Amino acid sequence: MNPMKQSIATKYSFIFFVTLVLIVAAVLLGIRNLKTNVLRNEARAVATQVVAFRAWVAKAGQVFWKGDLPEGFHDYLAKKEFTDSLGVTTTFHGKNPALATRELSNIVNKSSLRATFRVTSDQYRNDANAPDYFETDAIQQVKANRGLKFVEGYDQGNYRYIEPILVQEACLKCHGDPKDAPPEVVDKYGDKKAFGYKVGDVRGVISVKLPDLTLADVLPTLANPYSISLLVIAILINLIFTRYGLIKRLRDLTEGAEAIAEGNLDRELKYTKPDHSKDEIDHVFHAVSLLRNSMNIAMQRIMKGRKGDDL
Ligand code: HEC
Repeated sequence: MNPMKQSIATKYSFIFFVTLVLIVAAVLLGIRNLKTNVLRNEARAVATQVVAFRAWVAKAGQVFWKGDLPEGFHDYLAKKEFTDSLGVTTTFHGKNPALATRELSNIVNKSSLRATFRVTSDQYRNDANAPDYFETDAIQQVKANRGLKFVEGYDQGNYRYIEPILVQEACLKCHGDPKDAPPEVVDKYGDKKAFGYKVGDVRGVISVKLPDLTLADVLPTLANPYSISLLVIAILINLIFTRYGLIKRLRDLTEGAEAIAEGNLDRELKYTKPDHSKDEIDHVFHAVSLLRNSMNIAMQRIMKGRKGDDL
């Protein structure tokens, strides 16, 4: 079937459909970018809060919990006991930045917040901080390229956002030379794990995970009454224009030209003269009308000639 032999209505419907598909594809690609932007901003907000919290704990070196540790928060780095003048002994448990962050992340990850986060490293001291394959890959990337501010990607239905944690002066106390480290760090983790860093090194990463926004999440926003109404209006305008602006007039023209061809030389053609119209169909109407006038004149001449012959 030759597509060029189809009616204008069929051809135009096809072109309209293809145009519509391309526009929808363009919109969906735009939404994909927008979605990543939205997720990135959400993840970055979480990471920034974590950085601020860690900086606050790092300022103190450790923050101390007074008295017994509550259920689920048993881990600590240093343990100090103070006996006051009345002989009452109080225990203090110290939590370093990473430990405090790990406990904060446990609280947040159980909450209704969409985002979950954790701190991890290729040289982890605590097994609970071991990186998964996405994090391992991201750590390699930020170590290889120090200019990289973040790594992002989609993984198993989640948006993942990874930001490097760089070593600062205050970190060297526990991540520099093990000889300078507080004895409790070496007691707990040994003198091998996560030592030997210099200022500016990538110590680890903050890893934020957000459930991906699927088309099913976005579709209700797109399929709102306003958008649907606009789409219906666009389709109606196109239909009306092709039906009455093109096809009906071309049919009238065909009928008129056929009538003239059959000898009906008085047939009136309704159109706007070319000097008042830029419409190409009007121009064809005019050309057919000129043709009819020429035929009229030619016929009159032939008739006259015949009369002359008879004489
Ligand atoms: C008081 C000692 C101390 C200081 C100061 C300290 N850290 Fe740590 N850091 C630790 C300990 C102990 C761990 C293991 C924590 C755990 O059990 O989750 C750790 C773990 C980490 C981890 C997680 C990966 C792992 O090893 O399990 C990162 C990342 C980290 N530290 C970065 C830093 C940075 C950056 C600084 C400076 C801003 C810093 N630390 C300062 C003691 C410290």
